Amino acid sequence: MHNENYSRLLWATLILALLILFAFQIYINREPTRIQTVRAVDKAANVTAGELLYQQNCASCHGEEGQGEDAPALNNLALLKNTSDETLFDLASNGIPGTEMPAWNQNRGGPFTSEEIRQIVAFIRSWEPTAPDLGPRRMQVDAKRGARIFGATCAFCHGSEGQGGSAPAINDPARLQMFDDQWYAETIAKGRPTQGMPVWGTVLSPQQIGDVVALISAWRQGEQILVGDVGSLLKDATHALEHNELGEAAELLQEAANSAEHEQAEVIEKALAALNAGNTKEATTLVEQAQSMTKEMPATTP
Ligand code: HEC
Ligand code: HEC
Repeated sequence: MHNENYSRLLWATLILALLILFAFQIYINREPTRIQTVRAVDKAANVTAGELLYQQNCASCHGEEGQGEDAPALNNLALLKNTSDETLFDLASNGIPGTEMPAWNQNRGGPFTSEEIRQIVAFIRSWEPTAPDLGPRRMQVDAKRGARIFGATCAFCHGSEGQGGSAPAINDPARLQMFDDQWYAETIAKGRPTQGMPVWGTVLSPQQIGDVVALISAWRQGEQILVGDVGSLLKDATHALEHNELGEAAELLQEAANSAEHEQAEVIEKALAALNAGNTKEATTLVEQAQSMTKEMPATTP
């Protein structure tokens, strides 16, 4: 009697344990699907939020469907396939200095939180499955523009002519023959952060890296690319202003300010400030003033 009760209890416990195990198994099997569903819902919400932000802030330059207008197409398989979410995030956050592409992250003086930028990136990413393959962006590379970028960004470590400084020389003819433009473009974009060479792919645009590589390519051919004296930089800046190429104008003025003497440099800085404040007319007047100062000074380059 006693014994019978005991074995009944044992059976009941065993069956209960099996039932719990079974139920848990079902739960375990469904959990990944449940997580996936939650993720898909999150993703869809991000894409929807991102679409609104994109249409209000990016479409004017990049096109409503990302087809490109005044700015390059973003709805492009070649770009989307080769560009990670992190890189898109960095490009949108930091903007592309020296071009019309502004910085959008609040920590760079832009209007958006990191969360909002991630939403915009999610929206851009959602084009990928149907994106047309427009091929790599056609670039008109320009060694002279490259030399200006080099002067402002690389010379500090590599020397003004790439002859080396705190970092190794990159105008060494023998070394230049060993690697092609593709190698240089990749080396510059990826950097070697552990060796002190910064990553430039998130700072400079592909266009700007292309320009720098054009400069390196010119060195390989034994050409010397002169950035130009203050006078010709100001002349080019006036030209850029006339054609409403404001990013280009800002770059030229920055370079001119770096090479100009005190008083003239001050006027150029003022022109640059006016330009950055959106006052193109005032900037043009100040550049003219700076130009008139050049004529009174001896030429700075032979
Ligand atoms: C005032 C015009 C303008 C607006 C507004 C603008 N962009 Fe751009 N953007 C550009 C230009 C110009 C470039 C190309 C710069 C270069 O490399 O010369 C660019 C480049 C980019 C690139 C790199 C593309 C490539 O092929 O290298 C990304 C990504 C990008 N923009 C994202 C955005 C996002 C996201 C927004 C909205 C939050 C936005 N842009 C708003 C002008 C704009
Ligand atoms: C903060 C200093 C610093 C700046 C700024 C810098 N570099 Fe470098 N770069 C280095 C160092 C250090 C190395 C050597 C890394 C190594 O030992 O592998 C290097 C290596 C390179 C190499 C590889 C050279 C070779 O033959 O292996 C290239 C190309 C290069 N830099 C291009 C550039 C360009 C272009 C810029 C500007 C856009 C730039 N660097 C800006 C520090 C810098």
